[in-house]
Amino acid sequence: MKITAILPAAGKGTRAAFGKNKVLRDLDGKTVLAKAIEAFSLNPRIDDIIISASENDLDEVCKIAETFKNCRVVCGGDTRTQSVYAALYECEDTDYVLIHDAARPFVTQKVINDCIDTVLQYQSAVCALPATDTSVLCDGGCIRTVPDRNGVFTLQTPQAFSYPQILHAYEQIREDEKFTDDSGVYLRYVAPPHIFEGDRKNIKLTFAEDFKMNTNIRTGIGIDTHAFADHGESITLGGVQIPSDRALLAHSDGDVLAHAVADAILSAAGLDDIGHYFPDTDPQYKGADSLLLLKKAAGFVKEKGYIVGNVSAAIIAEKPKLFPYIAEMRENIAASLGISSQNIGITAGTNEKLGYLGRGEGITVTANVLLRSAD
Ligand code: CTP
Ligand code: MG
Repeated sequence: MKITAILPAAGKGTRAAFGKNKVLRDLDGKTVLAKAIEAFSLNPRIDDIIISASENDLDEVCKIAETFKNCRVVCGGDTRTQSVYAALYECEDTDYVLIHDAARPFVTQKVINDCIDTVLQYQSAVCALPATDTSVLCDGGCIRTVPDRNGVFTLQTPQAFSYPQILHAYEQIREDEKFTDDSGVYLRYVAPPHIFEGDRKNIKLTFAEDFKMNTNIRTGIGIDTHAFADHGESITLGGVQIPSDRALLAHSDGDVLAHAVADAILSAAGLDDIGHYFPDTDPQYKGADSLLLLKKAAGFVKEKGYIVGNVSAAIIAEKPKLFPYIAEMRENIAASLGISSQNIGITAGTNEKLGYLGRGEGITVTANVLLRSAD
């Protein structure tokens, strides 16, 4: 027995309006299409995969398809129905087809397996969810019919069918008939298709906002330590000058908090650390205001498409007492990152007299950050 997956990907993504086909859009480092193909390629019950691509996207789609085994590409058409038909036409001696929108990258193995189990039993299997909102039929701007919600379902993909039956149905379609999915074609020309329960996460990415719901978030950590000098009368932490019996040794202003936060955001974005961007051998950074360096680091991260969500930093210092300065540090860090101080958390504690921190030989700061995609 042979099972083929068909992924129509030949749309234009007009409603998402990215200026290119939405299924070629990157989502957490992989295209939407690659994620959708991957789900089917990982399922051992699927024998081969056929993608319908528009002529415009053919090269890019072929490059993605090449990275999966048993995956080939055919030219789609102007409508989804035509794109599915083109793929059905290309199927070779298959028994069942699972048709799945390439724009649904979050399909789970459970849904794919339930789809296969259902089609093997009933010859058809349509992924459906009970409606949670009330659906109505409207005409002329007015609600005309309110169907009983208990019998109303919204349909997703995959939708699976016996191959000879669905091919036969597609061959009957007349030019004036319009279908939004394959269950409609099967219902019109074969029989009432069987439903199985889908998954709310299996959404079809349709509008630009749908891509934001799955915002790419990244975390980062930064740690910095500076030793105390044997001179000086203040230290700088988070841009606040704090009286101290000794200064911190540094090429810059020694703002160990700003450095740890900068390293955390650079690290979260997969960039090099602050030592790479602002080397302590470079005279221009002698005595530098580290808040400015932090601002620059936030700029590099923004260029990579990320903004800072929140920062959480812990300062370990035996002395001086830092509590009175924390609020101002939060304001300064927030201003450098261009976000609200509500998104900055700073705690300060001692090291209970243990180790180099406990002996008051230096200050260490650990910072965690969360970055979000900027768009
Ligand atoms: N599709 C296709 N061929 C078409 C139209 C659509 O293969 N001529 C595919 C899309 O690529 C998508 C799936 O059918 O994977 C569902 O269609 P839809 O969400 O409507 O995508 P688009 O048609 O690309 O989007 P839009 O309608 O906003 O232009
Ligand atoms: Mg469409």
